[in-house]
Amino acid sequence: MNKKLNDVVFLFLFCGIVCLIGCNNILSEKSNKSRSLSNHFKNHFHLGAAINENTILGNDNKSKEIVVSEFNSITPENSLKWMFIQPLPGKFDFKVSDKYVNIGSKNDMYTVGHALIWHAQLAEFMQNIDNKEETLFHVKNHINTLMNRYKGKIDAWDVVNEAFEEDGSFRESVFYKNLGQNYIEDVFVLAAKVDPEADLIYNDYNLYKREKRLAVINMVNKFKANGIKIDGVGVQAHWDLNTPSINEIENIILDFHETGILVSFTELDISVLPNPWEMVGAEVNQNFSKFEGDPKMNPYPNELPNNIQDKLAKRYEDIFKLFLKHSDKIDRVTFWGVIDKYSWLNDWPIKGRTNYPLLFDKDYKSKKAYYKLLELKTNQN
Ligand code: XIL
Repeated sequence: MNKKLNDVVFLFLFCGIVCLIGCNNILSEKSNKSRSLSNHFKNHFHLGAAINENTILGNDNKSKEIVVSEFNSITPENSLKWMFIQPLPGKFDFKVSDKYVNIGSKNDMYTVGHALIWHAQLAEFMQNIDNKEETLFHVKNHINTLMNRYKGKIDAWDVVNEAFEEDGSFRESVFYKNLGQNYIEDVFVLAAKVDPEADLIYNDYNLYKREKRLAVINMVNKFKANGIKIDGVGVQAHWDLNTPSINEIENIILDFHETGILVSFTELDISVLPNPWEMVGAEVNQNFSKFEGDPKMNPYPNELPNNIQDKLAKRYEDIFKLFLKHSDKIDRVTFWGVIDKYSWLNDWPIKGRTNYPLLFDKDYKSKKAYYKLLELKTNQN
């Protein structure tokens, strides 16, 4: 009898302890989220991160933990780009993108598709086509296939990426050359037909430059006048410690707001390294390989000095103060990556540098800038 009673008591205590540990885990997961960046800004805008293939495939669980606890939106850094998803005509590879979309659905995140029509990271077969019919066939097939497959799962698509040059003229991409200058509106019309519920976005860089911004504004106004659905403009936001100024960023927000669409900052990162364009002038093309290995261009190979860490934190603080000031006009702010170690800015525009553009360092630790953002006064209720 006594032994039985002992067993029962033991079992009871054991279950209690297991339950306590379990409950504690659930609670701590919740409280982590409640202290998170996305929660901090939840009444203002979505807060997102671009995630790479390693994170999507589960080979970098630490990054994934940060993404799930800190952000409420995701963008695939590369996995949905044409060269990876349809490398050969009609041969789609959904291995990574299906997993990407599942992460978004499982964690109830605003899930972005990046990017349908873009001249870069395009499949080789597309670059070699020189006629309208074939181009149109593949453009339709690409958009239909991707948007149908992820209908209801991908909330927003970057329908067209980087269609304009710095002076506001059309970029002479294969799409422009083969389809003519109405191609942007044609693909937006197509996208709206395939998934009328998805947010449709035009995405580009250097929109703080007036001429380029004007080209996009004119395009949006034309779409509106012709009843063509466009929901937002994506401002890439690959910036540095000084450029663009807060004033210039404010102008972007105000100008696009006036057209009646939402603004998103879709690829935010702040480079702390010297910028080769400033050093060599404008006429040099994009090949900066002569700077590879040049210590002047890679001043912090081991760690970021405190004073630069402080500057980075201040820069992020200033930018987010502005975002909060205009949060009624902003839909989403997405960082282009999670931890510094895997940022594309370690290899672009000069290969093999060590950059520090994000909120989490190479050891997955939150940087000073992260805490600065959490200290900003937001509307929390
Ligand atoms: C970058 C990725 O981060 C890199 O990994 C890749 O090698 C090149 O493309 N504008 C865009 C993004 O719209 O898709 C780019 O991403 C960065 C510039």
